[in-house]
Amino acid sequence: MKGIVLAGGNGTRLAPSTNGVNKHLLNVYDKPMIYYPLSVLMLGGIKDILIISTPDDMPRFKEMLGDGSAFGIRLQYMEQVNPDGIPEAFILAEDFIGYDDVTLILGDNIFYGQGFTTLFRNALKNHRNATIFGSRVKDPERFGVVEFDENQKVLSLEEKPEDPKSDFAAAGLYIYDNRATRIAKQLPYSERGETEITDLNKEYLKGNQLEVQLLGRGFAWMDAGTHESLFEASEFVKITQQRQGFKIACLEEIAYYMGYISKQELYKKGERMKKTDYGQYLMEIANRKHSEQYWEMIDKNPILELVQNE
Ligand code: DAU
Repeated sequence: MKGIVLAGGNGTRLAPSTNGVNKHLLNVYDKPMIYYPLSVLMLGGIKDILIISTPDDMPRFKEMLGDGSAFGIRLQYMEQVNPDGIPEAFILAEDFIGYDDVTLILGDNIFYGQGFTTLFRNALKNHRNATIFGSRVKDPERFGVVEFDENQKVLSLEEKPEDPKSDFAAAGLYIYDNRATRIAKQLPYSERGETEITDLNKEYLKGNQLEVQLLGRGFAWMDAGTHESLFEASEFVKITQQRQGFKIACLEEIAYYMGYISKQELYKKGERMKKTDYGQYLMEIANRKHSEQYWEMIDKNPILELVQNE
């Protein structure tokens, strides 16, 4: 399974903040936005990841994340010259995907909740054809909307409908088989001048080959694409982290618990940022004695659960 983080676009809904910097490099509380979607792919066990962004912004992503070895993953980069649509990711990534299946996550999407890793991992393991994730929202007209019956069979999909047929948004996380690139190449441009991921999903739906996984009320799914939603996401991360003492989307922590980097490496990374709460957190985890028993005791660490299941 290959992974793609789509982190291009103009970020026009976040101007003026995005006039000089890519949206996905902005902070969501204490770390850059792109850490959040990257953490999702890492938690899913996906190690080969392509980051797609604009030619102007690419050097900054490379500087920040490098080849991924600091997090035990393999990162590659691809430029998208114009934001012509989300499905273009599969065309740009054709060689990268090769003969594999592929998971795409939008760079401004944040997923959090107990059991999310397990749900996502199961979706990756069991998936055939195409899988999307549905989350109940108050404002479905802002999103792709998925309608389904009592057996969770998908009935319809619509992109930003004026009159939504359900309250469930299709979140920005998609798992596809190897046909995604071929289908993406055939999609028409929509009224907003882009190809639409909803149209790609509709192609799978036509063949009865689209499944939806629902994120229940215990999950938080946010897209941080507007000032309001970015602020709300930051608030959510701050409050949750301060309450629980765990960090959300801490890539080094995930790499450590996945067994990708050693305790010593984790400590060193923390030391380099020791003036920040983030750095101190890494050092604290590395210093923790009997950490495995600790995690087991609270029984809330999906990462440990994964490592044990591997
Ligand atoms: O967040 C989930 C929603 O994302 C879905 O419910 C919708 O079905 C889907 O169309 C998308 O809607 P948005 O209007 O939020 O898409 P937006 O244009 O904001 O792009 C989403 C992310 O993808 C954003 O981080 C920028 C990036 N992007 C987008 C396009 C169109 C690119 O990197 N390149 C592109 O060409």
